[in-house]
Amino acid sequence: MAVRIDLADVGDLHQVLEDHARYWGERDLRALHLTALVREFGSTSLVARGGDGIRGYLLGFVTPDRTGYVHLIATRDDTRGTGLGRTLYEAFTETARRQGAVRLKAITSVTNEGSIAFHRRLGFDDRLVEDYDGPGRARVVFTRELRAQ
Ligand SMILES: CC(C)(COP(=O)(O)OP(=O)(O)OC[C@H]1O[C@@H](n2cnc3c(N)ncnc32)[C@H](O)[C@@H]1OP(=O)(O)O)[C@@H](O)C(=O)NCCC(=O)NCCS
Repeated sequence: MAVRIDLADVGDLHQVLEDHARYWGERDLRALHLTALVREFGSTSLVARGGDGIRGYLLGFVTPDRTGYVHLIATRDDTRGTGLGRTLYEAFTETARRQGAVRLKAITSVTNEGSIAFHRRLGFDDRLVEDYDGPGRARVVFTRELRAQ
């Protein structure tokens, strides 16, 4: 079944929030799904649509220091391992480059082994940063330089 990468709108955001567990399992990340991201960074808010609905999404933006920051990426539980996460990253990278990005960045919790393996596979370097999210709240920080094309 074909998948199309589209720009995400607020309706898509509400749809993925309704189906939150399909993307994030037991973890509750609903508070990170800010309408402002889709409204203000619409060109880097992406959704992957198939005939059976939203299969994955990525919310990101390009910072003033030219970092393409991926705030959230998730693929639906029945689509994992099909290359969709990679496709979403490629689409984001293309747009971020056009907006001047020279590197990519993302973070994850230290226990998210799937995310760490995925980002390594996509060529990111990772490092553990103590207190990243406040005292005692370490995070894994992923970075990847974007080579000039
Ligand atoms: C992380 C996530 C987005 C990966 O999406 P995906 O669609 O399964 O990833 P892809 O199929 O595009 O995988 C790309 C590569 O990463 C590898 N990979 C993906 N998930 C992996 C895992 N859990 N363990 C090991 N390797 C993994 C794939 O094998 C693939 O390698 P290849 O291209 O050499 O074959 C998905 O597992 C997910 O939504 N997880 C829950 C939400 C989450 O934790 N998001 C990340 C928060 S920062």
